[in-house]
Amino acid sequence: MRIDDVALKSKELGYYTYFPQVRSACGRDMTLADGRKMLSFASCDYLGLSNHERMKESAIAAIREYGSNIGGPMIFSGFTEYHERLQNGFNELYAGRTSLMFTTSYQANFGVIPLAAERADLILLDQLSHVSIWDGVKLSGCPFRAYIHANVEMLEQLVRLNQDKRILIITDGVFSADGDVADLRKITRLKQIHPSLEIYIDDAHGVGMLGGSGQGACESAGVVSDIDYIVGTMSKAFGSSGGFVVFKDEAFAERVRFRCPTYNGSQSVSPGVASASCTALEINATEGVVRRHQLAELTRYTHEKIDSLGVDKLYSKTAVIPVIFKDPMEAARVNAELVGKGIMGSLFVPPFVPNHQSRIRLCLTYNHTIADVDYCVDALGKII
Ligand SMILES: Cc1ncc(COP(=O)(O)O)c(C=O)c1O
Repeated sequence: MRIDDVALKSKELGYYTYFPQVRSACGRDMTLADGRKMLSFASCDYLGLSNHERMKESAIAAIREYGSNIGGPMIFSGFTEYHERLQNGFNELYAGRTSLMFTTSYQANFGVIPLAAERADLILLDQLSHVSIWDGVKLSGCPFRAYIHANVEMLEQLVRLNQDKRILIITDGVFSADGDVADLRKITRLKQIHPSLEIYIDDAHGVGMLGGSGQGACESAGVVSDIDYIVGTMSKAFGSSGGFVVFKDEAFAERVRFRCPTYNGSQSVSPGVASASCTALEINATEGVVRRHQLAELTRYTHEKIDSLGVDKLYSKTAVIPVIFKDPMEAARVNAELVGKGIMGSLFVPPFVPNHQSRIRLCLTYNHTIADVDYCVDALGKII
């Protein structure tokens, strides 16, 4: 069954939970339009910044000054001091590398992958790459091969078999539905076999969540300098909105500014969003380490607790935790029962995820407590 069938069937059975209308700010607590109060594990607000006072104040201040938008793409309609500060903030986060901000990281992948692919004869990508990566790869028209999820041995074989080609490897850093982390040490070592290959990491979930300074999975693997393109988003750990790409090749980044339609043919984030994002990067610089540490502790606790239920949660070790069900309708039923107990997770069914691997995805944030996790996992245990 695919998501549209699951949605229709769930409506018939009274299980439907998609597109919940909310009457509360994003965070640990969620109030639905009908007044039901939820403990939410459905946001990717990993550092707990979405509803942070400083974020809200800075967005409001920028809107007071510059209004609600910039009136068109930056190339023609301009940008504000907040956009400039944000751009510099990305460069600083990645120790002086060049970056470009995008309205979303979906647009970043969709726009930049086709341009990066012009420098390649073959794309090798993880089969479970995010849909925005797949869209970018398909749009590029470049020949591609998908390797079995996380199977670096297969990737290595493909690299060895295609020594004569220019290769672009693309993968998520932290996988959005599985919560596991690509083995970036092994992947970057493939440059020893094929020195000119390029590596593109979409780390939308890892940026802010992982790494000493919040650079994400590439930082925690110690390989930032080996990665040619790092994609991040402000819409998850950083509690704002907007994507960015960090480039190794500065001259290429300058070309992307002019050639990438999702960069220069679409309006940038609003001044309010740019300002909130600047504040998120400031908070990251001062409190990020503490917030990540607390999240990591809670993550460790939650994994142990879920393991004690004996459920399948694949290979996740991060704050993104899938609880797997073979049957999508069983996943929908358990999810609806969780909602009945005031717990909101995210129901993933095919084609978001492979057949027989439907899941309820639980995302932990800095604002969750051990008591929240106990309540959620105990409820899950009783339902299953
Ligand atoms: C791996 C990955 N890349 C990109 C995106 C898109 O994020 P954004 O909200 O910045 O478009 C997501 C969102 O879920 C994601 O999981």
